[in-house]
Amino acid sequence: MHDIQQMLEEKRAKARLGGGEKRIASQHKKGKLTARERLELLFDEGTFEEWDMFVEHRCTDFGMDNNKIPGDGVVTGYGMINGRLAFAFSQDFTVFGGALSEAHAEKICKVMDQAMKVGAPVIGLNDSGGARIQEGVASLGGYADVFQKNVMASGVIPQISMIMGPCAGGAVYSPSMTDFIFMVKDSSYMFVTGPEVVKTVTHEEVTAEELGGASTHTSKSGVADLAFENDVEALLMLRRFFNYLPLNNRERAPVRPSGDPVTRLDHSLDTLVPENPNKPYDIKELILKVVDDGDFFELQPDYAANIVIGLARMEGQTVGIVANNPLVLAGCLDIKSSIKAARFVRFCDAFNIPVITFVDVPGFMPGTAQEYGGIIKHGAKLLYAYAECTVPKVTVITRKAYGGAYDVMASKHLRGDVNFAWPNAEIAVMGAKGAVEIIFREDKGDPEKLAAKEAEYKARFANPFVAGARGFIDDVIQPHETRKRICRSLMMLKDKKLDNPWRKHGNIPL
Ligand code: HXC
Repeated sequence: MHDIQQMLEEKRAKARLGGGEKRIASQHKKGKLTARERLELLFDEGTFEEWDMFVEHRCTDFGMDNNKIPGDGVVTGYGMINGRLAFAFSQDFTVFGGALSEAHAEKICKVMDQAMKVGAPVIGLNDSGGARIQEGVASLGGYADVFQKNVMASGVIPQISMIMGPCAGGAVYSPSMTDFIFMVKDSSYMFVTGPEVVKTVTHEEVTAEELGGASTHTSKSGVADLAFENDVEALLMLRRFFNYLPLNNRERAPVRPSGDPVTRLDHSLDTLVPENPNKPYDIKELILKVVDDGDFFELQPDYAANIVIGLARMEGQTVGIVANNPLVLAGCLDIKSSIKAARFVRFCDAFNIPVITFVDVPGFMPGTAQEYGGIIKHGAKLLYAYAECTVPKVTVITRKAYGGAYDVMASKHLRGDVNFAWPNAEIAVMGAKGAVEIIFREDKGDPEKLAAKEAEYKARFANPFVAGARGFIDDVIQPHETRKRICRSLMMLKDKKLDNPWRKHGNIPL
């Protein structure tokens, strides 16, 4: 008996050593933690239960039959994050560069299947050279199996990817189908084809960092949601982020009691919006002053910054925040911001997270670049997302709500539950100047008359009361009472029930 136990411990020790001391040292030298060290940080101490430690690959080509490392380059299992269940896989770069074999893929699929059965999120810590080259198509099949699981899990359990090393070729497509992608600065990158292939095909010279590093994906492509300084910060932030999420689509996010009173008034909000309607201000100031404890987990802050998205809490309950930011591009909706916000709204809707929308939008961005780029189709994504969304929707118009953008931004017409406006809100088809130039075109040569007409248009439409008279706005509220009014609305909406008609799935304009 004793011998068997000893053999088990030896086997475990061998598995824990992965690709060996030398490769572990090399991983550390790059500033990266090993797969197991990462899991230790991710989960509450001592809660991680590892599965499939003894799984080995089945490849016999290229001398692989004599080169087997138990666990086969990925550590899988489950544990607790702040007392709540989560499944995870962590690729071990010290074992064949974390490359994905058939057996490696099966391990990932196994935890995903189990996570679906019990209704708990899956977190992938990616650090891999891609398909295991020695295995050929078996490895490709393994990838596709993971992709299929990602799609089946989408909208059922939250899926989060942390990119902590290379992620190339088809390997990027599994993370891209998860709900959130986070990266580690300077040590992670993602691309479909690497710099060498790029050079051969397009003759562009580009480094791996420029092509697919964290700054590229958080600011240029929008593929990643956030980037962190190092592995430790990344995993601690992931734990924090996890606290906002429900475990699955049948549950609600956990409530975190806060000492921040629901009735807290903030009089500084009364002067947040400048007198001059063309002057910008930072909508994030409003968000921070309204949510519990000023705690806002912003996503994609450096991409399409004309719209702000992120998670926060109101009276302890997780909410998704979407807000036009007049500080960037005057808060216009363009292709990138529409896509950014649409995907976020759909995430919130899938996982029972109420959506709070702060509106200050002069309209959709004009121009050939936008039209040729398909703003019609991409702007429609946000429209579609808000319209199909059945979770509680509370909207506050802080200033401008013009044209189609008024409709799109969680308006009453798109089943907004509670729609507020601040007293200075301007809700109209367009700004007074533009409107007058169109309807009084014949008076182009008479600036005085035009100015009078503009003032008349402004007085008639640049306020919230025309919309209020139709019931499109439920109430005009004082800026300082915004938190209180939103919290009360959410309380009223707690048991909201709204179903969309049965269908296989809608056809969102992709
Ligand atoms: C098998 C691999 C491997 C792979 C790396 N290794 N990638 N083994 N299959 N794909 C092994 C190396 O042989 C080496 O083994 C160890 O991992 C570490 O690799 P290094 O090259 O020494 O590390 P580094 O210099 O940090 O470079 C990392 C790397 C590079 C940039 C990831 O290894 C690389 O370019 N690998 C190939 C990437 C690739 O082309 N993958 C296929 C993509 S196509 P030893 O024994 O020396 O430690 C793809 C298709 C999927 O993924 C499609 C799905 C739809």
